[in-house]
Amino acid sequence: MAYSETKVVLGGLAHIPIIIGFFYLIRRQYSFGAMLRTGKNALSEKVTKATPAKAATPAKAATPAKAATPAKASAAKKPHADVPVNTYKPKAPFTGTVTENYSALRDGAIGKVQHITFDLSGGDPDFKYVEGQSCGILAAGEDAKGKPHRPRLYSIASTRYGDNFAGNTLSLCVRQLQYEKDGETINGVCSTYLCNLSPGDKVKISGPVGKEMLLPEEEDSNIIMLATGTGIAPMRAYLRRMFEPTEIEKHQWNFKGKAWLFMGAPKTANLLYDADFEHYKSKFPENLRYTKAISREQNNTKGGRMYIQDRVLEHAEEIFNMIENPKTHIYLCGLKGMEPGIDEAMATAASAKGLDWSELRPKLRKAGRWHAETY
Ligand SMILES: Cc1cc2nc3c(=O)[nH]c(=O)nc-3n(C[C@H](O)[C@H](O)[C@H](O)COP(=O)(O)OP(=O)(O)OC[C@H]3O[C@@H](n4cnc5c(N)ncnc54)[C@H](O)[C@@H]3O)c2cc1C
Ligand SMILES: NC(=O)c1ccc[n+]([C@@H]2O[C@H](COP(=O)([O-])OP(=O)(O)OC[C@H]3O[C@@H](n4cnc5c(N)ncnc54)[C@H](OP(=O)(O)O)[C@@H]3O)[C@@H](O)[C@H]2O)c1
Repeated sequence: MAYSETKVVLGGLAHIPIIIGFFYLIRRQYSFGAMLRTGKNALSEKVTKATPAKAATPAKAATPAKAATPAKASAAKKPHADVPVNTYKPKAPFTGTVTENYSALRDGAIGKVQHITFDLSGGDPDFKYVEGQSCGILAAGEDAKGKPHRPRLYSIASTRYGDNFAGNTLSLCVRQLQYEKDGETINGVCSTYLCNLSPGDKVKISGPVGKEMLLPEEEDSNIIMLATGTGIAPMRAYLRRMFEPTEIEKHQWNFKGKAWLFMGAPKTANLLYDADFEHYKSKFPENLRYTKAISREQNNTKGGRMYIQDRVLEHAEEIFNMIENPKTHIYLCGLKGMEPGIDEAMATAASAKGLDWSELRPKLRKAGRWHAETY
């Protein structure tokens, strides 16, 4: 039987819906696979772009337009996809203005640590960041080769709302680097520049950078924090987000989990933001624990300096019970030197429970529950 040209064309057209349907099925299958893959990491939070004014109402903060089909959104988006990164690159930095610069130490402390706040208003685009991110600072002047100083990174110590809750400032906690070389005191370039700034000074800031130290979105997460010295910076932001009444009012993220801060400092006078944390602990005794390791005033069981890993070991069983809960996240920040000690303490604690830390740690990391930023 011979077909006319018209019949052949019509016959071909009749197959189009079948072909479209076939492609639709393939696409749906692919999306489902992606959802399963991303669903594995269910604890990773979805952090929305830092728009403090909008974030006042949680519905807006959750960017409802994009979240209309939650299953599809989580399938397509990587965790923290909306967190701003590198809005201002080192070659075209933002110019902030210092509003405050005061000592974060008490009398008798070792060294110099400053709490420094910058006004970020007037940026186009806005310089927005979220808790746990860092920024780059470009010190004024030139290096020995006559080139501009390379940027140094600093953990942001404020929440996205800033210390004044207006949403247009950023604070840092900076230790001035000082060491002796050939009988001479050497001052670190950028840390000295920052520690000596005065209100009104203009400073080149790049960033924000980093997604390693972001908080989970879930209000019932448990947060274990291990900090040495200025490594407390991101933890200060977390604790303000969790326990500072005006913060809670702003973001309406009502933290319901357990937070446990381990803080290492050489002397009591070096404990940073200690009064704030003690205050939060007294107001929220069910939600916050605060354990200090004061290396030059306390001894560990071996008679050596008390470090945070010694405190971790003391509380190993409780910490491990918390880690067994998939809602628990662990954050480390500060001296790189503390990492082997923490690992050792965790390994000892794990083996007491018949667990192998060398297997467990990569799993925690893969699940987005082990967050470390050390230097
Ligand atoms: C992600 C991240 C976040 C950070 N956050 C913070 C923070 O919140 N607060 C903070 O204070 N710092 C923080 N730092 C460290 C910060 O970036 C700088 O490295 C630090 O301030 C020193 O910079 P500087 O320009 O003052 O020192 P530089 O002038 O760059 O001098 C540093 C160099 O001095 C030499 N040096 C240092 N110590 C000695 C020594 N004892 N003996 C001999 N040589 C030595 C080394 O060569 C070293 O590279 C962070 C680092 C990173 C990577
Ligand atoms: N995101 C980041 O990467 C980040 C953020 C902030 C700061 N930092 C860096 O972290 C460091 C913090 O230094 P700081 O000067 O602010 O701190 P600090 O006030 O000197 O306190 C550090 C504390 O850690 C103790 N410590 C020393 N070695 C240790 C080890 N191996 N394990 C555990 N604890 C140890 C110190 O004890 P003793 O001195 O008594 O031995 C002291 O008690 C700086 O190098 C800073 O640049 C990094």
